[in-house]
Amino acid sequence: MTRRVLVTGGAGYIGSVIVDQLLERGLSVFVLDDLSTGHRDAVARRASFVQGNVGNGELVEALLGQERIDAIIHMAAFALVPESVAQPGKYVTNNVTAARVLLEAAVRAKIRRFVFSSSCAVYGHPAVIPITEDSPQAPVNPYGETKRDFEKLLADYGPRNGLGVVSLRYFNAAGATEQRGEDHDPETHLIPNILAVALGKQPAVSIFGTDYPTADGTAVRDYIHVVDIADAHVRALEVSLDSGAPVAVNLGTGAGQSVRQVVEVARRLTGRPIATVERARRPGDPPALVAAVQRAATVLGWRTKHSSLEEILESAWQWHRAHPQGYRGGGEGT
Ligand code: UFG
Repeated sequence: MTRRVLVTGGAGYIGSVIVDQLLERGLSVFVLDDLSTGHRDAVARRASFVQGNVGNGELVEALLGQERIDAIIHMAAFALVPESVAQPGKYVTNNVTAARVLLEAAVRAKIRRFVFSSSCAVYGHPAVIPITEDSPQAPVNPYGETKRDFEKLLADYGPRNGLGVVSLRYFNAAGATEQRGEDHDPETHLIPNILAVALGKQPAVSIFGTDYPTADGTAVRDYIHVVDIADAHVRALEVSLDSGAPVAVNLGTGAGQSVRQVVEVARRLTGRPIATVERARRPGDPPALVAAVQRAATVLGWRTKHSSLEEILESAWQWHRAHPQGYRGGGEGT
């Protein structure tokens, strides 16, 4: 049984929701985050917070030992695809080299379970949709390469040293809870950008690419509610692993939505017109990414409960209206 969990990147968009769910289940939660992209106010007050980087071996070792951590959820990473193309070294240093320091410390501290935040970016431009976990891994940007590389390191090195390894490959995380939402700077993701237009903060949302081989010509993604993603992590802490073998699991709904479909539902829900501007494809964007979801059901006993596009958009809309300046406007701090 896991009792004491370290969440790296627990001040981030997804990590902060995971922290809340772990606390709700009565676990002791420790957050390690260097606040390079996260927000202190996104971390529940009942969690113990340490500001620092996962590549700081002394700090990590002291934390794991002194706090008698028995599982790690590793979320801390850079996650912007265009930035990774411009600065690949930054991504390798943080997402692989620093993460390796954490992994080695975890083995020395005899941590029993390591849950890794991976991405559908490991698949690149998949030939077959929906994408199963056994599909070829051919990332098309440095971000995806770092996720593939650390997953491999983890799978090779962890189990040989007694560490149970679960890698969760998220599709498109979206939505919010009452207290936690998406606040990136710069914001590159579709849904917060659509809602920024609905709020009057931006004049129009760009539609990147209208000539994709999809039903309406715009790119298709599998949007999944952050609450469902967090639930999968809580489950991943306890699933039994066949003879300790590492496992990788997609987190998606199995259904895709086009950019135009997302804009349409947002118009309906917000009652705002939401102007759009058609632009060229964004470099590196695959036409369609949709998860095969069978393994998540089998391994984690998990299925999405909150990931209809309506619930995702409604929850995000509520959060953005309540926090028009994001966490800069003062977080909940609860
Ligand atoms: N898009 C727009 N306008 C915008 C923003 C996005 O049309 O203002 C389009 C994109 O081109 C893409 C789709 O909406 O087709 C979704 O874009 P997001 O930026 O919201 O998400 P991505 O699919 O690009 O990125 C997500 C994760 C990454 C991960 C990637 C895997 O955020 O971390 O999936 O491809 F690497």
